[in-house]
Amino acid sequence: MTGEAEFRVRVAETETVAEGIRRLRLVPLGRSALPLFSGGAHVVLTMQDDGRVLRNPYSLMGSPFDASSYQISVLRTADSRGGSIYVHNKLRDGSELSISAPVNLFPIDRRARRHLLIAGGIGVTPFMAMMEQLEREELPFELHYCMRSKTGGAYWSWLRDIYGRRVNTYFDDLQQKLPLRRLVENQPLGTHLYVCGPSGMIDWVLNEARDAGWPEENLHFERFSAPPAGAPFTVELAKSRCTLNVEPTQSILEAIEAAGLVAPCLCRGGACGQCESGIVSCDGTIEHNDHFLTDAEKASGGKIMICVSRLKNAGGRIVLDL
Ligand code: FES
Repeated sequence: MTGEAEFRVRVAETETVAEGIRRLRLVPLGRSALPLFSGGAHVVLTMQDDGRVLRNPYSLMGSPFDASSYQISVLRTADSRGGSIYVHNKLRDGSELSISAPVNLFPIDRRARRHLLIAGGIGVTPFMAMMEQLEREELPFELHYCMRSKTGGAYWSWLRDIYGRRVNTYFDDLQQKLPLRRLVENQPLGTHLYVCGPSGMIDWVLNEARDAGWPEENLHFERFSAPPAGAPFTVELAKSRCTLNVEPTQSILEAIEAAGLVAPCLCRGGACGQCESGIVSCDGTIEHNDHFLTDAEKASGGKIMICVSRLKNAGGRIVLDL
């Protein structure tokens, strides 16, 4: 299964909200409302760009209680294979595109008595929807939000206006550092920690929390990322008996879909595990870009997450059990 019912939407509003960050508001086409979602959910945008089809996941940052539109924010990334540049350069007010139904891999944990949210950069977006939900449900929370600078960070001033002292901001260029050790050592019993941001920051936060004795079930993180570009190579699908070229800006999953075939997927960002595929043989070096397989699984060479991982070397060939 693809896990993705798709909807047509129109870009109703665009705005540059910080350096390199663009907000889009999407409204439904041909229906009066979009599916409701919960804080932490994401959708996958399908982008048709000069004959290429790119599908990237983005967190929903608008109100979970408003089905009239969705809002996302997209960071322009230097190593983009085209998705973020397409959003920044080509989508305009009135543009139409397809999106998937919302999927939530980063939900609020109902067992928590308190919610400690830690964001880095564009990783604040899932928390914006979560905070609206937590506020509505009168659940206690606080946000700690790290950014490069005041001009490079999005929504911090707006969030401070709405949530007051529950929003704490830290700017790198002002040498303001997140007091992480103090934070994780001074939380009441029953607090759950959520972190979203750059991968290195997520590792840092989780490691500090584990060192401070936090139980694993109280730790939540989201770090899916768009598939990176790379060298072209060949993938052979053993069960489907077909051979496909994977272009530099395509993921294996997108190459499979471009051939009219279906492969399991959910997050398209290397986080959920749905697209795990067995490797029959591999002539090349695998670049594992996912956050799902263990180091041992990656080293064994027996599995690959086809939504984000690929071969490093041009002209390589990988045979999958698909
Ligand atoms: S679709 Fe989620 S890890 Fe690939």
